[in-house]
Amino acid sequence: MNASSEAEWDPQLLLEHARQARERAYAPYSHYRVGAALLGRSGRIYTGCNVENAVYPLSTCAERTAVVKAVSEGEREFVAIAVVTENGGMPCGACRQTLREFADDLIILIGDAAGHYRQTTLSQLLPESFSAADLPSVPPESSCPTWR
Ligand code: THU
Repeated sequence: MNASSEAEWDPQLLLEHARQARERAYAPYSHYRVGAALLGRSGRIYTGCNVENAVYPLSTCAERTAVVKAVSEGEREFVAIAVVTENGGMPCGACRQTLREFADDLIILIGDAAGHYRQTTLSQLLPESFSAADLPSVPPESSCPTWR
């Protein structure tokens, strides 16, 4: 799916994709249906829904479904994500950190079933975050003879 470019994109279109993705949610245990739509810098939109499992911890959130779909399709830079639930629930901590891996900042649209939404950012939801920049760089091979 394609949207308009990074400079000019339509929040309502992204929310609509998230709404449609929410209809595909597999949530027989929590009955809490979540849909997400992630806009890549290419203009492509990657949707995701929550996919639960009888082994509860194996359940996957909608946002992470969308990220995995996008990255596995070759897209690693993102502009915005829309997340739609019944009541405008916020992305969980695990999803915030997963999004942080691929974006310094990101526009986040939080929508509800009534069609209302509000806009925030990843840096607001995950301030002072940990990222790859915090990891010490791997020493060059020559300085670590024991690795050979
Ligand atoms: N869920 C999401 O899909 N995204 C979130 O950010 C929060 C929670 C899902 C996981 C589970 O299927 C259901 O909502 C209830 O926690």
